[in-house]
Amino acid sequence: MQATTRTGGLITGWGAALPDKVVTNEDLVATLDTTEDWIVERTGIRERRVGGTTAGLAVEAGQRALDTAGLSPTDIELLILCTTTPDMAIPSTASLVQDELGTPGGAVDLNAACSGFVYGLVAAHGHVALGYERILLIGAETMSRVTDWDDRNTAVLFGDGAGAVVLEATGGVDGLLGFDLGSDGSARHLLEADIGGFMRMEGREVFRRAVRAVVDTANRAMQRAGVTIADLALVVPHQANIRIIESAARRLGISMDRTVNVLETTGNTSAASIPMGLVHAVESGRLHGGDLVLLVGFGAGMSWAAAVIRWGTGA
Ligand code: COA
Repeated sequence: MQATTRTGGLITGWGAALPDKVVTNEDLVATLDTTEDWIVERTGIRERRVGGTTAGLAVEAGQRALDTAGLSPTDIELLILCTTTPDMAIPSTASLVQDELGTPGGAVDLNAACSGFVYGLVAAHGHVALGYERILLIGAETMSRVTDWDDRNTAVLFGDGAGAVVLEATGGVDGLLGFDLGSDGSARHLLEADIGGFMRMEGREVFRRAVRAVVDTANRAMQRAGVTIADLALVVPHQANIRIIESAARRLGISMDRTVNVLETTGNTSAASIPMGLVHAVESGRLHGGDLVLLVGFGAGMSWAAAVIRWGTGA
């Protein structure tokens, strides 16, 4: 859709969190029928972090985002936690995070798998349009808990982590220029897990659909934003496989040096991967006020989502 908000929102704070424990490819080679070369060549992943709880990682990343924004938890009116790995079936993990951080307003989980953070960003802008002033949006995952570490098809791919942003109402300038959200539930069997069970995945088919979904959703979001790929300073894609990013970048006509890549050291952290990529880009000085950025994700569902945002206040 074309963003037509009455009150604009801008990202004013950001932060990420990773568990301490590093699991290298070498560690996996010790227990799985795989090789270091296979994992690096087919995925681009060298290591991933494992451990903690979704709520614990979310609290850490959320607090960092509040600190960057110069806000205290009591300033937050709504907490949206994007996750596909909640800590409990009931209640929402957002409830745990809300209690731990001490945010006074609403708290809700949002599950759109690896597309979750972009869905959350659009939802947050929608709440700003309704009058909310300050929203804490977090993507947090403990994928390690739904990974069968004896299954080489999935064990090499996933990791744990969290990334968060604060979205504040501006009264005028809006950071969200255009977006696209989609889902095809008829393909849900391609990547699924029962409650309490491990992920099952048809990797090759997910790969094929992922490239197509990223290109299509990105093009729709750019068209609605009235921009072209040449206008973008940076693309922050979901971090699942470097070859998916390369393939999509080639088809979109953007060079890899204008994409953000953290998966080499994080693996696929689902809803946490885009905010972690965004935080990495800001902290390494790759984003400046006024820059146009495309956030684009895809994942189980199958779901997909893209958003074109204008960074900072330099509009
Ligand atoms: N080590 C060694 N061999 C492995 C392996 C591993 N860790 N995992 C799978 N293989 C094998 C397969 O069993 C297959 O063997 P076979 O030909 O005897 O059946 C072979 O490698 C090739 O499998 P293929 O599926 O063609 O490999 P690929 O190049 O597509 O790479 C993935 C496999 C999983 C890395 C890739 O398909 C992928 O990344 N898919 C998308 C997954 C994804 O992003 N999921 C999350 C979505 S949010």
